[in-house]
Amino acid sequence: MKKKIKIAPSILASDFSSLGEEITSISKAGADYIHFDIMDGNFVPNLTFGPNTVKSLRKYSKKIFDVHLMIKSVDDFLIPFIKAGADIISFHPENVKNVEKTIKKIKSNKKKVGLVLNPNINEKKIFPYLKKIDLVLVMSVYPGFGGQKFMNSQIKKIQNIYKKTQMEKLNIDIEVDGGIKSSNANKVIEAGANVLVAGTACFKGGKKFYKKNILSLRKSK
Ligand code: DX5
Ligand code: ZN
Repeated sequence: MKKKIKIAPSILASDFSSLGEEITSISKAGADYIHFDIMDGNFVPNLTFGPNTVKSLRKYSKKIFDVHLMIKSVDDFLIPFIKAGADIISFHPENVKNVEKTIKKIKSNKKKVGLVLNPNINEKKIFPYLKKIDLVLVMSVYPGFGGQKFMNSQIKKIQNIYKKTQMEKLNIDIEVDGGIKSSNANKVIEAGANVLVAGTACFKGGKKFYKKNILSLRKSK
């Protein structure tokens, strides 16, 4: 049975000078998650925000805080982001010494855990962990910046992950991040994804367009 489609606006594309207001507005506009792209300028060529920013934004929305760690030192920051109010923590497995240990640490703190695949990483890398995680985050761009073009090469990967989860009867989410907009959202959903991360597509035009932007992703045909 197909899962409900969830929209996760990435605040990377929002107005950083008023993040609290932006999070309240996009939450009211119908977001299911708030997606935080945490970048360290090391694993990815950009720098965004840390646990203190997430902590200060927690009071602006009751939505799920979906924290995507694009950082080298994942293990050092798990507790700070958990304490800051993260509900989901997703990390790139190449940035930890022991994937199972990091998964366990996040789960033992009663948070959901996701593994992230960059476009050049084969999905088989995470198959051994599927039974232990809550979601797979497929990058449809090389991470670092919003506004990039969706990489069609990732559709096959989404299909393969979806097939595997169906074969093993696993109820995990497939989240896709990068270049998602109303013109390609449907093919991503058809491939098996049920959580769409979108920065540019959600925040374009300013507050008065947020509700329409989110709806056009949900209803994309
Ligand atoms: C990695 C970031 C972006 C962002 C989405 O670069 O994770 O993919 O969330 O940005 P848009 O939706 O503007 O491509
Ligand atoms: Zn992201």
